[in-house]
Amino acid sequence: MPRIYENPEKTSQNRLPPRAYYIPGGKSEYTLLNGQWQFAFFPRETAVPAEISHWDCVPVPSCWQLLGYEHPNYTNINYPFPCDPPYVPDENPCGIYQRTFSLESLWGPVYLVLEGVSSCAFVEVNGRAVGFTQGSHLQAEFDLTEFVRPGTNTLRVKVLKWCCGSYLEDQDFFRYSGIFRDVYLLQRPRGHVRDVDIRTQGNAILVHADAPADIRVLDEAGHCLARAERTQQARLEIENPRLWNPEQPHLYTVTLEREGEEIVQKIGFRTIRVSDRRELCINGVPVKLHGVNHHDTHPKNGWCQTEAELRRDLEEMKRLNINCVRTSHYPPSPVFLNLCDEMGFYVVLETDLETHGFIQREAGTPYYYDSDNPDWPCANPMWRREFLERMQRAVERDKNHCSVIMWSTGNESGFGENQVAMLQWLAARQDGRLRHCEDTCHTKQYDHVDVVSHMYTGLEELEQEAQNPDAPLPIFLCEYSHAMGNGPGDVWDYNRLFDRYPNLIGGCVWEWADHTVVENGVQKYGGDFPGELTHDGNFCCDGMVFADRSLKSGSLEVKAAYQPMATAFENGVLTVTNRFDFTSFSECSFVYTLEADGMAVAENRCCLSLAPHQSAEIPVSIPAAPCRYGLYLTCRLYRGDALLAQTQHALARGENPVQWQQGAATQEEENQVVFSGPGFRYVFSRELGTFTSLVVSGQEQLAAPVALTAWRAPTDNDRNIKARWGSYDTWQGENLDKLFRKTYRCRVQPGQVQVEGSLAGVARKPFFRYEMEVFVDAQGKIRVQLQGKVGENVVYLPRLGFEFLLPQENAPFRYYGSGPLESYCDMHHGSTVGLHESTPSREYVPYIRPQEHGNHWGVRMLEIGGFRFESSRDFQCSALGYSAQALTRATHTDALQPDGHTHLRIDYKVSGIGSNSCGPELRPEYRLEEKDISFEFCITPIIR
Ligand code: GAL
Ligand code: MG
Repeated sequence: MPRIYENPEKTSQNRLPPRAYYIPGGKSEYTLLNGQWQFAFFPRETAVPAEISHWDCVPVPSCWQLLGYEHPNYTNINYPFPCDPPYVPDENPCGIYQRTFSLESLWGPVYLVLEGVSSCAFVEVNGRAVGFTQGSHLQAEFDLTEFVRPGTNTLRVKVLKWCCGSYLEDQDFFRYSGIFRDVYLLQRPRGHVRDVDIRTQGNAILVHADAPADIRVLDEAGHCLARAERTQQARLEIENPRLWNPEQPHLYTVTLEREGEEIVQKIGFRTIRVSDRRELCINGVPVKLHGVNHHDTHPKNGWCQTEAELRRDLEEMKRLNINCVRTSHYPPSPVFLNLCDEMGFYVVLETDLETHGFIQREAGTPYYYDSDNPDWPCANPMWRREFLERMQRAVERDKNHCSVIMWSTGNESGFGENQVAMLQWLAARQDGRLRHCEDTCHTKQYDHVDVVSHMYTGLEELEQEAQNPDAPLPIFLCEYSHAMGNGPGDVWDYNRLFDRYPNLIGGCVWEWADHTVVENGVQKYGGDFPGELTHDGNFCCDGMVFADRSLKSGSLEVKAAYQPMATAFENGVLTVTNRFDFTSFSECSFVYTLEADGMAVAENRCCLSLAPHQSAEIPVSIPAAPCRYGLYLTCRLYRGDALLAQTQHALARGENPVQWQQGAATQEEENQVVFSGPGFRYVFSRELGTFTSLVVSGQEQLAAPVALTAWRAPTDNDRNIKARWGSYDTWQGENLDKLFRKTYRCRVQPGQVQVEGSLAGVARKPFFRYEMEVFVDAQGKIRVQLQGKVGENVVYLPRLGFEFLLPQENAPFRYYGSGPLESYCDMHHGSTVGLHESTPSREYVPYIRPQEHGNHWGVRMLEIGGFRFESSRDFQCSALGYSAQALTRATHTDALQPDGHTHLRIDYKVSGIGSNSCGPELRPEYRLEEKDISFEFCITPIIR
């Protein structure tokens, strides 16, 4: 006899069939059983004694690994146990939850609802077995009527860490156990309606209940618009219904009354259609999905997110112009969908299914699934029922939500007969929603799906697909722009491509929030916990917002890529396009400002009553505004005070003429040259070929010699270019982090030195050979001219420029460039070029694994310490509290200690960010891979 929890053909016992989600009102009683429960933990099921003598007390819902029973374990693809389906380890930890509840009287059937238990649960009431369920993120309901009595009752739920269902729950996340979602009792009148399916058709609402009821449709004010009495099926016509869309999520209320009980469902009118051009049309309007993948994750509570927290996530998404959520990779808590209906989001509802651990990983095999292995669940008939059931349970619970526009069979499993069964079942339902199966992209079998799914496909390949006339379906990127750490850098380009092709319907950034566990204020990840037999390090920290939902530059990059306004400026005409799908700009205010050197010189505010998808032309006369650095036209779109979109157009660049005097007094000493004049004294080492001391107004400005360097602390998105086993064409292959600087020659003339030098990593040929001319004028202004060549077979550089170690801690600074958040050549759309002020401590971004941060792109001027840096060409800079070496070494934020200095970088260029932690390689146009480098800037002392 197989154990029930190792039998995929017996996934439940006495669990009621799935039904639409609701909490019944009227006469029904709803008793939430969340709160403190008794709890006893055992290393394996067989260790549970007949009588439990000692109980702990734990909160429910919760994950027991976060309460001190076992430790968290993060694994991505690998199963955390041997892959021997359907069997799970004998050492299968077990938690027994127990509590009492009281019933005043027993006037109707009593049900128990478990919204989420990992991995399976045995339910017992008053010592009698009620039933069994598995499917962690799927709702389970049991009829307790025969088991309860008036007065006090005891409910016990035995939870096992693993069951055969765990083979279908190999998602990339911390593996948690326990009752992690709401638990409640319902006492309902006999003969109540149990399930109801509500759809819209034209201007009618079609209701199909499993028992006759009085049905009403109410408008938002609660007025009854239509009704039907004592019927199971009704067609209720609404005159001119207002349609639902994510921008204006208009809802109607349908109520079903029977036996004094009321079931309330919110209904939206919306249609889904794929046009001849393979566009996704909602209510007949072609739309783009500006999406994100959402996991339920909390740095203290793991898989438990309260309704308030979920609402906060969605509110933040709204502010970031997101209109679509993929519930990766399981159905969310049911209230999440109520919120999506109400607040306006498209939802790609994915069921709880992933068998990623069956990917082939033998050397030389393609990265496909082990489909020849009879154990692979997707084709094995033994698992058919459970696959189908997982789809059915998701759909039946969530079928009445207008926000759901796509059903997804799961993620990263491979494509087999069992998914075909799920897709066929979906097709038979004919509910108008699109069917999505990520795995069909490997087999290119599109007969059973309605969208072609891609993840992390590069721009060229995606464009080719989009142009392919035989590509049968709209193309949806279920995941793209891997937002891990500093990033993503490519979300803008993807969205411009989506704009160009009707059949690219958009996609979902991977992913919403970092998954971490906070311990003593430090965010922990895989490998930080005792007993992790397999783990995937910090790969769980890949959110576009931090675990506490604070934002980073990448968050605003996504906001900009998704923004509802586009502008173009040419020949004095500003063209403004409304990128909303359903909303007129008459609800917004549009402001355009002329900014000279970051100061507004003219501002216009107007209300453009621009219909969705329409453009308007505004002639803009540009007054002659003198500028030293730059003249920009900045356009902003607001709703109330909230900034929805901003764009910038460069109109002119200041020439920024620096007046040079004759060379400064120059004195040659043994190994150094001293340049001096009123208020300054600079020492240049002939040996090192660089400045070793810069004194301005009696103050030393350097704590170490100025250094030409190329390293940056690798970002998570640099993980593949940083190092690859056995390969030289990586940053560490070139030993860029183990740098030697060579000065071959140093020629001195009055006011000037010329240096010939090179940079090389240990054990490598020089990767950069240069000549540098430094001129110092009589007022102490320094001009640096660097000319050099990068070696032919050298990998693209992380960056190239000068590092200054300033003796001051947290030196405040001011710059004209792209800010206020960090910006890079491919990640600056969330920032604007202007005059910004900051400090190293404000520049710090607490990436979970410390890394490169705080760069500013498009810089023309920086004032810090005793100097102003300027260039007639854009340069890049950063001023941080930590060195690149310290950031490279640290694995967690608490390893970073202030060193009392400011680390300043004046860079020729810095390579872009991309999203290569999982996405495609950094695009060539964003790499610093020029061979001929010519960099010039000047430093003006600020003599006080
Ligand atoms: C995808 C997968 C996600 C996540 C991501 C990497 O392949 O579907 O679940 O693992 O990669 O962060
Ligand atoms: Mg996976």
